[in-house]
Amino acid sequence: MTSDPVRLGVAGLGRAFMLMVPTFNADPRVKLVAAAAPRAESRAAFEREYGGRGYETVEALCADPSVEAIYIATPHQMHVDHVLAAARAGKHILVEKPLAISMEDADRMVDAARGAGVHLIVGPSHSFDPPVELAARLIERGEFGALRMIQALNYTDFLYRPRRPEELRTEEGGGVLFSQAIHQIDIVRRLAGGMATNIFAMTGAWDPKRPTEGAFTALMTFEAGCIANLTYSGYAHFDSDIWMNDVGELGQPKKPGSYGGARRALSNLTPDDETRLKTTRTFGSGTTVDAAHNEHFGPIILLCDRADLRLTPDGIEVFCDIERSFIEAPFGPAPRRTVIDALVAAVRRNDPPVQTGEWGLASLEVCHAILRSAASGVPVALQRQCKTKYEEPTG
Ligand SMILES: NC(=O)c1ccc[n+]([C@@H]2O[C@H](COP(=O)([O-])OP(=O)(O)OC[C@H]3O[C@@H](n4cnc5c(N)ncnc54)[C@H](O)[C@@H]3O)[C@@H](O)[C@H]2O)c1
Repeated sequence: MTSDPVRLGVAGLGRAFMLMVPTFNADPRVKLVAAAAPRAESRAAFEREYGGRGYETVEALCADPSVEAIYIATPHQMHVDHVLAAARAGKHILVEKPLAISMEDADRMVDAARGAGVHLIVGPSHSFDPPVELAARLIERGEFGALRMIQALNYTDFLYRPRRPEELRTEEGGGVLFSQAIHQIDIVRRLAGGMATNIFAMTGAWDPKRPTEGAFTALMTFEAGCIANLTYSGYAHFDSDIWMNDVGELGQPKKPGSYGGARRALSNLTPDDETRLKTTRTFGSGTTVDAAHNEHFGPIILLCDRADLRLTPDGIEVFCDIERSFIEAPFGPAPRRTVIDALVAAVRRNDPPVQTGEWGLASLEVCHAILRSAASGVPVALQRQCKTKYEEPTG
């Protein structure tokens, strides 16, 4: 079935937008018609590339009648104001993860979208990755028996990529919890049905020069009985992409010789230099990512009654009692096709995805619970979880 492309406005033309550009450019179901960005160079680059209108403020973007939905890719702390503005203007919303920093803001955003009758989708997160989606559907259908245990691990150089100062302050949404744990939580909740019950976690903030959480490990339990172990290090010297067939998070084959690149680029920079370096990784900088596989967020192993599953960038390795096999999760035509699937289904067919505002709020609750459990030394019970909704596509 074809329909008019969703007319999308973009708020924030930084790195997150740059990562979505290949998806938007390849998918005729969406058309970029306008953008808001404070930097004149970014607005000019957008207008050159898409012929749309560049606005200085998100409020002006929201007032553009040609815009049906807004992709909000501004820094975490601005999501709340920008989501509220978009909802007030009656626009559907795709907002980057995390939904917000505080639970209070997240509640206001969910209420505003509900009150305005617009869809609020939180993503992309790696729960949209095709191998995750495929595994979740197979598990939901009971293909391998009950899901009992999940191991999710990721070792990256996250803390040593160029950062704005607030990205290194936990109370402003910095560190690995709000930017990275949220992906792992989303994946694990997607696979285990959404309803997490308790978290017992420990965190590490071990580099005084970057004084925010750089690592954590968490045990999570689910209503359905599944247990999950989430471990993340943003301090890594070991790069766990080695265990993902040497494919990077964005689906790009890792370049030989790239070892140590993040720390090398960062050595001897002042905070101002670092903020400037960050802008060399954004839209208009000419940087591109050449994905050849699905995106991923590190090794994920699932233990089910009748099989163990290993997610790879290309699909799922299935280890049964006496046989092993591979189920492909096709890639392309561009990365993140599933995010556009979700946007189009919501806007054109009024069919919400798994990753609604309520879903994003529930994943955010887990981030806070990890911090609380680590600070208190005791498990934390979760109160705001929601289920995945899944229906077999018809036709
Ligand atoms: N899903 C992913 O793969 C992914 C990757 C990177 C970032 N993100 C998310 O995207 C968000 C942005 O992160 P980033 O790394 O792109 O940061 P960034 O600093 O590269 O980009 C943010 C952009 O927002 C712009 N901006 C600031 N104030 C604005 C305003 N008032 N109106 C319009 N634009 C404004 C900045 O000029 C900048 O270009 C974060 O929430 C982050 O978690 C997601």
